[in-house]
Amino acid sequence: SQPEAGGGSSPEKLLAPVLSAFWDEDRSWTLDVYRAHDGYEGLRKALAMSPDDLIAYVKDSGLRGRGGAGFPTGMKWQFIPQGDGKPHYLVVNADESEPGTCKDIPLLLANPHSLIEGIVIACYAIRSSHAFIYLRGEVVPVLRRLHSAVREAYAAGYLGENVLGSGLNLDITVHAGAGAYICGEETALLDSLEGRRGQPRLRPPFPAVAGLYACPTVVNNVESIASVPAILKNGKDWFRSMGSEKSPGFTLYSLSGHVASPGQYEAPLGITLRQLLDMSGGMRPGHRLKFWTPGGSSTPMFTEEHLDVPLDYEGVGAAGSMLGTKALQCFDETTCVVRAVTRWTEFYAHESCGKCTPCREGTYWLVQLLRDIEAGKGRTSDLDKLADIADNINGKSFCALGDGAASPIFSSLKYFRAEYEEHITGRGCPFDPARSTAWA
Ligand code: NAI
Ligand code: SF4
Repeated sequence: SQPEAGGGSSPEKLLAPVLSAFWDEDRSWTLDVYRAHDGYEGLRKALAMSPDDLIAYVKDSGLRGRGGAGFPTGMKWQFIPQGDGKPHYLVVNADESEPGTCKDIPLLLANPHSLIEGIVIACYAIRSSHAFIYLRGEVVPVLRRLHSAVREAYAAGYLGENVLGSGLNLDITVHAGAGAYICGEETALLDSLEGRRGQPRLRPPFPAVAGLYACPTVVNNVESIASVPAILKNGKDWFRSMGSEKSPGFTLYSLSGHVASPGQYEAPLGITLRQLLDMSGGMRPGHRLKFWTPGGSSTPMFTEEHLDVPLDYEGVGAAGSMLGTKALQCFDETTCVVRAVTRWTEFYAHESCGKCTPCREGTYWLVQLLRDIEAGKGRTSDLDKLADIADNINGKSFCALGDGAASPIFSSLKYFRAEYEEHITGRGCPFDPARSTAWA
């Protein structure tokens, strides 16, 4: 049955399982099960179109990139120059690492053929004969599952020479990264794929112009590409009937933290956290929401007052944050916000690639200050210093990692300055006195 757009609060109306429709079925990851659910039907429809018409169709569907930035997918495909005589590449960014983000990995484990089908469709559209899947290296079970799904697809004629008699020749290479967060940044990913140390490149030129091996390259997130087959199969109007005008369709929200039932919830864009919590059992019993992230720790945090913000690009943007990866990390009143921000900042300092000074030095100094404050050794002037350092990182760093590191500093100071002050005046963490000497 077709999921309906938001409105009303019944789970039947708001939950829209498409990508996750049969994740619970036995051997859901196999080609047999995928085909039993009309798998590869979208590809047949796509191959009946011309590549240009196919790009226009995906553009008209309104699909926006699910990796965090929300860039229109069809438009990205359209940027690939045609008739340029160069090879074109599709690179799938499966290096999911944003704190709290855990949607692509379950999708790849449970339904890898939706990605492979999407890859074949995308490569036909951009006239590419080689696609790469850059997978986060730590997830070995996913690597095995991807290899086995790619083997099945070759054997069934969905990959290789003359795919389904269309004249398309296509190979997929699955590449496992070495576990660096920065390699999820698209140009660092390309450098890593080429065998170099993964560090961001200057943009422009964007990968669409000079990407892998300096050739036109589309870099798309796993969920973006995996969403394409359903759009072809059910139609762009079906897709547009969900979500909002500027943010149409369904998507995966990752609910984690102090909630009763963490997990992946597939729903139209524009659903609210309140609705998702209502449907999933809410916060853990006896506790209430204190703060949350709409899209992983790189997006400015929200509080209880933002429970009714529509979770789409416009709604979250208007409320002062970003939708990002839709990683809804929920923290209850037992959480020390200073501790949480310290932990996130340690992550950014560790993952900073070191290429630019504001991020490399700034994240280090943020960690020193935060640790001092948390240990009760901070001074009131440190709060202005924190904001000042974050300000010198934000917008002045070479890539988005720097901005992401500054986000939790700004938003936590905005909503929880009093809690920082309590650590300073009370000489330690009010939530856990035993921790106050941890960094002494
Ligand atoms: P961006 O907005 O700079 O670019 C988005 C995409 O659009 C890129 O593929 C870029 O090549 C393309 N693009 C933008 N302008 C273009 C132009 N004029 N011509 C051709 N192509 C163009 O965002 P960025 O820096 O690529 O990604 C930042 C996002 O990544 C953040 O919003 C964050 O949420 C997300 N992120 C996701 C992570 C994950 O684990 N999935 C990890 C960390 C961050
Ligand atoms: Fe590297 Fe950080 Fe600069 Fe990005 S912002 S290039 S991760 S040092």
